[in-house]
Amino acid sequence: MRKIVIAGNWKMNKTVAESVQLATEVVTAARDVSKVVVAIAPTYLALAKVAEVVKGSNVKLAAQDVHWENQGAFTGKVSADMLKEIGVDFVIIGHSEQRSYFGETDETVNKKVKKVQSLDMTPIICIGETLAERKDGRLEGVLTMQVNGAYAGLSADQALRTVIAYEPVWAIGTGVTATDQEAQEAHAFVRGLLTKLYGDHVAQSISIQYGGSMKPENAAGLLAQKDIDGGLIGGAALKADSFLGIVTPGESLNK
Ligand code: 13P
Repeated sequence: MRKIVIAGNWKMNKTVAESVQLATEVVTAARDVSKVVVAIAPTYLALAKVAEVVKGSNVKLAAQDVHWENQGAFTGKVSADMLKEIGVDFVIIGHSEQRSYFGETDETVNKKVKKVQSLDMTPIICIGETLAERKDGRLEGVLTMQVNGAYAGLSADQALRTVIAYEPVWAIGTGVTATDQEAQEAHAFVRGLLTKLYGDHVAQSISIQYGGSMKPENAAGLLAQKDIDGGLIGGAALKADSFLGIVTPGESLNK
């Protein structure tokens, strides 16, 4: 059975004090959640403090990025060991903002995935097409490149310890959400790619989140789709009530 994983990507929002406040509210609001895996990803700066807040709760800690090297002269970067030390469970890798603004490639995604896995943390691998790519009929080609790139050299056992986030770039932060059907079609395609790489058992076991203007109003419809196993939430994760408004429909699903 696949897990439903709902993660809040706080991006470059919230000071440390605000992060502690929001994390505290999420922990309280999520205390009865048992089925959905709930995670929050504050900035690097707030991770250590938020780690103290989520400790012993059913809220997991996620980081927004990582570097693939162990240590050294990489100004501005943070290593997987550093994340592991403070109790990070998930690491978001290859977000479209990283890809478009900071030079992330499928190759660097792949290196980061391997590094994170070597320390028993779970990568959340982000993929997704731009509007121009979709309009040009390149959706499947782009997703194929991104999935093949991210999973290059990964064994079936390693693949089982990953989560994918399908985030159509045109839906991120725009208020425009993929329809339930558009999202389901892309998710089914991605699962098909995983089947080609690893066979049906592995493909059926990997959770594929949807991301892009997901909110309480559209969460139930998206989460009910056969191949949608959770969400990676930006704007709506910045308030505990709207974030939980996405988690709650996930809890009541019978999938
Ligand atoms: P929004 O929910 O703000 O569209 O952001 C989605 C996202 O990029 C999560 O990683």
